[in-house]
Amino acid sequence: MSTEATRSHVYDGIQEFDNRLPNWWLWTFYGACIFSIFYWVHYHTIGTGDLPGAAFVKEQAEAQARLEKQMAENPITNESLLKMAGEATAVAKGDAIFHNAADPLRCAFCHKDDASGLVGPNLTDDMWVYGGKPIDIYTTIMEGRPGGMPAHKSRGLPFVLNVTAYVLSIKNTNKPGKAPEANAKKEQ
Ligand code: HEC
Repeated sequence: MSTEATRSHVYDGIQEFDNRLPNWWLWTFYGACIFSIFYWVHYHTIGTGDLPGAAFVKEQAEAQARLEKQMAENPITNESLLKMAGEATAVAKGDAIFHNAADPLRCAFCHKDDASGLVGPNLTDDMWVYGGKPIDIYTTIMEGRPGGMPAHKSRGLPFVLNVTAYVLSIKNTNKPGKAPEANAKKEQ
């Protein structure tokens, strides 16, 4: 490859060959230049492409719309939730979610492994701050509550439905634990 021709300068006795850049290198470079023009025009000049931030917002909106559509097609009611609470697979999935050690914000972290309450209230008694009806428990888990109960919307509908089924299955099992909250009301 070397042409034997050298550049005129010498540094510390070191000389440089005056070789042509290899074609593969040149074409990669020209290709990158041409690509950058289309990239710039597509994303920045005419704006036909979504930059990562905008693409993320769009994806989130699409996920939200999908969730709302799903919910509109299968309305969630006390009856539908109670039915799920009677299904062993849904309860088992909810149990796994509740105790998922890989999830730093698992339910058990705040409500204790046996759900008898720690930071969050005891879920096995008949005293509820936000209501003990299936739809109330579902709403608490989905939307969160101001006293430190996180929303779980972003986890998706199956997550919330399964874990609601699990909570319904342990409701009224009366594990001794955290005393009922001062603002809780009795509700079976
Ligand atoms: C970061 C801690 C934390 C995590 C994680 C958490 N909770 Fe809670 N939860 C709380 C707190 C605190 C409250 C009380 C909120 C209030 O009083 O406003 C609560 C309240 C609740 C209630 C309402 C109780 C009532 O008396 O009305 C339910 C049901 C519940 N959580 C279920 C769950 C489930 C199921 C999960 C997992 C998907 C979960 N929580 C994850 C802290 C947590």
